[in-house]
Amino acid sequence: MFKELWQERQQLVERQLGKELDAQQPLNKTLHDAMQYSLMAGGKRLRPILLMAAADAVGADGTKFLTTACAIEMIHTYSLIHDDLPAMDNDDYRRGKLTNHKVYGDGMAVLAGDALLTLAFEVMLRQAEVPAETRLSVVREMSMAAGMNGMVGGQAIDLESEGHRIDMDTLRSMHMGKTGALFHAAIRSGAILAGAGEKELSALTTYADKFGLAFQITDDILDVTGDEQEIGKPVGSDLRNHKSTYVTLTSLSEAQQLATETVQAAEAALQPFGERAAFLRDLVRYLLARKN
Ligand code: IPE
Ligand code: IPE
Ligand code: MG
Ligand code: MG
Ligand code: MG
Repeated sequence: MFKELWQERQQLVERQLGKELDAQQPLNKTLHDAMQYSLMAGGKRLRPILLMAAADAVGADGTKFLTTACAIEMIHTYSLIHDDLPAMDNDDYRRGKLTNHKVYGDGMAVLAGDALLTLAFEVMLRQAEVPAETRLSVVREMSMAAGMNGMVGGQAIDLESEGHRIDMDTLRSMHMGKTGALFHAAIRSGAILAGAGEKELSALTTYADKFGLAFQITDDILDVTGDEQEIGKPVGSDLRNHKSTYVTLTSLSEAQQLATETVQAAEAALQPFGERAAFLRDLVRYLLARKN
């Protein structure tokens, strides 16, 4: 049931992302190709799936918000393209393929990222089923999450922390930023689009923040224990770049323990939603078993 629903939603996202790109009349074909290369390279599509699942939990049909769901995947893909650049993590593989800059060059990869970020905002403003005011709230969520006090801010801490041993608080704020912020925005946006009340929004926000943290802890673990074929990106990238991660600051087993506790806290936040949040519950549980 969980797998089927995941795959069904993934297919919806794939199809819509393809349509959004096809609908563009590109000023420059190479740029369009570079955007398409990374956006259509697979990926788990977790953020759009979470956006729709949060709307489901509030009692709406999450698939109504597919357009906004795709917009957050564009922001995420942009963040990956820039994260892999030689000036950042300098990685050669992503989603099982050569990284964007390896194929199109550093300059075009920077531009493909920039263009995906801006296209995301164009796309989410088009979410037709909701009043303009709701759309603006979502744009606010997304811009805050993407920017200096969200994903980009976390990436800045990451960059500055290379080669240093940072403390746990710094690690936590780095993770909340670079990874947590987009999960936070995905889930809150789904809830806002579905017309969540204060209490529902607050419970889902707790879930989102725990989800984001658990996700990055497991990402740090996979950087050590993962299988390159399965995760589709290099193993040992953090070590090579002298990064502080949950694994280096604690230990593998402590990181695993913390991931388990964080997943339990996320599940607990779903309690008021009962069965409507079954998919969100399965999604966070999956983090502990994930291999990619
Ligand atoms: C990878 O995100 C980047 C992090 C935030 C750790 P995902 O693991 O969701 O990457 P894709 O979208 O499935 O490729
Ligand atoms: C970066 O974290 C997350 C973002 C892209 C914002 P990582 O550098 O750990 O992500 P991976 O491991 O390369 O996917
Ligand atoms: Mg990085
Ligand atoms: Mg990286
Ligand atoms: Mg990583």
